[in-house]
Formats: sequence, structure tokens, C-alpha cells
Amino acid sequence: MLQLTSLSDIRQHTELLRQQGQRIGFVPTMGALHEGHLSLIRAAKSQNDITVCSVFVNPVQFNNAEDYRLYPRLLEADAQMLAQEGCDVLFAPSAEEMYRQKARLSFDFGELEQVMEGAHRPGHFNGVATVVSKLFHLVKPHQAFFGQKDLQQFAIIQQLVLDLSFDLELVCFPIIREEDGLAMSSRNRRLTAEQREVAPHLYEALQLLHAKLQAGSVAEAKKEAETFLGSFPEIRLEYLEVVHAQTLQPLEEIPAGAPVALCLAAFLGEVRLIDNMLL
Ligand code: PAJ
Repeated sequence: MLQLTSLSDIRQHTELLRQQGQRIGFVPTMGALHEGHLSLIRAAKSQNDITVCSVFVNPVQFNNAEDYRLYPRLLEADAQMLAQEGCDVLFAPSAEEMYRQKARLSFDFGELEQVMEGAHRPGHFNGVATVVSKLFHLVKPHQAFFGQKDLQQFAIIQQLVLDLSFDLELVCFPIIREEDGLAMSSRNRRLTAEQREVAPHLYEALQLLHAKLQAGSVAEAKKEAETFLGSFPEIRLEYLEVVHAQTLQPLEEIPAGAPVALCLAAFLGEVRLIDNMLL
């Protein structure tokens, strides 16, 4: 596996691959890789000639300095896992290399970013859109792979690709979970043993919400799921929403046939986790 750190190297390398007629599949990540990331690598590999993965903990998408400082950085282990999966290129630049000058672009995704993650993490999607645009320019992929785990991020990136006419196909893959239902996340490594034990209740709350929606109103179902989570003192719920799966706007009732997503964010101690379920 080729490992590159400089912008000019990745740019030249992928330019050459394109000229040779190779199809490039790209998986952007922030590292501390787990099975969720690897499922995207496998998908990219199966549909392309060359698979490129980026590992970059992007400073400008963190609205919390402590979260950025404590984000797990495990580049050597990541490189080993990627090589084992048959990834062809790992692009792992430094923050200085990626941001030789301060990032100043500002994006407006309208109502898509005024809810959930966008509402609770000011500047987050601006930072995501900035780095993803830079990465798309550098890697020039034919396809880029993302996880449903970050449902709102995927919707924002779809909008970004349309607005800036990026010539690539976006692919979204399902959430990979631990055996007890907890959605895999690099941040799970930061949970204490006690927090790790209660963390699967987040997914249970989504399942409960789903079950209650069959029988009652959205407001009642949400209340039951919130009460359930409220019974665990280690869990501090930030939001629990029933939204339209494409517009991501909250639904007070569920229109027949509408695609629906159940989404939540919660703190366990200082660790913030998100999860969702598509109906
Ligand atoms: P990161 O959190 O490392 O996630 C990289 C990709 O893996 C994202 O598309 C995410 O949705 C996907 N992913 C994470 N956990 C998953 C799981 N349990 N199952 C399936 N897919 C999962 O998302 C980011 O990085 C960054 O915001 C990034 C897009 C790289 C921009 O910096």
C-alpha cells in the first residue's frame, strides 16, 4: 500500500491513475478505523480498480477543542488494517499540510444544517464541507463512500456535490454495529467500562421509538423513548428526532409512504455519540 502525506503527491498520483483509465474509489475517514470503516473499504474495492482511503482528523470540523485533542489517533494500526484489506493508497496529511492557510470558506446548506448535528455543533458541517471538497479535488475519485451512521453528513455532502458539480458518484452504506447493537464509532474507544455497558441503550431507544411509532403519535413515542433513556443516569440525551429521511426536517406525524429516519445524539460523560435508524 502506498502511503502519501503531501498534497502534491496525492494529486499527481491520482491524476496519473485517471490518465491510465483506472477507476478510483475513495473512502474519507478520520482514522481509528473499525469494521464500519472497513465495510466502506471493501465496498470501494469491489466496485473500483483502485481504492484510496484518507485518514485525517480534520481540525476545522470540531466545535469542541477537547474533542479534537482527545480524538483517537492510531495511524500505524490504521495503515496495517488498510493494507490487510488490500487498500491501494493511504493519504494521511498533517493539519499544517492540509491547511497551509486558514480555512475561510463558508457554506450555506439551508434547512439541512439547521437541525440535529448542524444545530448542536456550530461550524461542524462547514468544516466537513471544506475538507471533503479539498479531498475530492485532491483524490478525484469516480466514487466516494460514506456511512449511514452520519446520515446528516451524507445529505450535506450530496448537496455539496450538486452545488459544486463534483463529477463523482456518492455511495451510502449501512451502519455496522457491535453484537450488542452499539453503532461502531472511533469515539467508542473513549468510553469507560461502565459507559460502554450502558451505551447499547441508545440503539434500544431507537428500537423502542420505532415500536411505539406503530401504535401512537410521534410525540407520545418520543416521550416514551426519552423516558427510557432518562432512566440511565450515565446517559445525557442531546436530541431524539423523528425526521424525513431526505429533508431531515422533524415530523410531527408520519405521512403515508414517507421515508423516515429516527436520529439521536447523547453524551456519556464527555463522549458524544450519534445513532440513527431508517424506517
Ligand atoms: P469518520 O467518523 O472517521 O467516518 C468515516 C466514514 O465512516 C463516514 O462516512 C462514516 O459515516 C462512516 N462510518 C463511521 N462509523 C460507521 C459505522 N458504524 N458503520 C458504517 N459506516 C460508518 O465522517 C467522518 O469521519 C468525517 O466527518 C469525514 C467525512 C472523514 C470528513 O472529515
